[in-house]
Amino acid sequence: MSGRFLVFDGVDGAGKGTQIALLRAVLEGRGHVVHVTCEPSDWPIGAMIRRYLRHELTEGVPGWQAMALLFAADRMQHNEHEIVPRLSRGEIVICDRYDWSSLAYQSAMRGEDVAEMDRALEWIAVINGQARRPDLTLVLDLDPELAAARRAARGGEEELLERLDLQRRVRAQYAKIPGLRPHDRHVTIDASRSPEEVHADVLAALDAR
Ligand code: TYD
Repeated sequence: MSGRFLVFDGVDGAGKGTQIALLRAVLEGRGHVVHVTCEPSDWPIGAMIRRYLRHELTEGVPGWQAMALLFAADRMQHNEHEIVPRLSRGEIVICDRYDWSSLAYQSAMRGEDVAEMDRALEWIAVINGQARRPDLTLVLDLDPELAAARRAARGGEEELLERLDLQRRVRAQYAKIPGLRPHDRHVTIDASRSPEEVHADVLAALDAR
């Protein structure tokens, strides 16, 4: 029996962590075995990416292409050693970010030129073409200014990709992915509301499928 692969995605500060915890509790209550994971993953390539994002590693900071390749390599390692084996055992795997993050963020890093960003999107889709497709991608959509205010309330240092101008482009890029990946099942959820309201939409989206 194959399990189910669910992905939460969206701009930084949209509330993925809260929604994943709420969903996990419901699914476990229904008797499922649930495995929660994230990208960048805890495997070695993911750990290196995190060091760049936190400004701990400052030598050879990757540009958008090298960053997209690192994320894609991390994703394949994550697939091989964690996601696919658990799905094969019939577990529900919930992943905090997946290749829609690469599509949105690394194309937004490309710069402000829309045609260049669109070409970047296509290339990033190609290098992620071997990654296992999720059964459902839930995109939590939120105005980047609101998201920045939520992150500020949470505290902590600003990471490499959290600048407001970049986050605005990231949000615009997310909106283009359904056209690029027409076979990916997805739902976009308005994340500006209370956690309970967003959670209700998450459950409705899952139960509808
Ligand atoms: P995030 O998931 O928000 O984790 P944390 O809560 O530890 O900050 O941070 C990961 C960052 O990496 C986020 O800014 C989005 C970015 N990212 C990409 O740019 N491309 C990708 O493919 C993935 C998975 C993440």
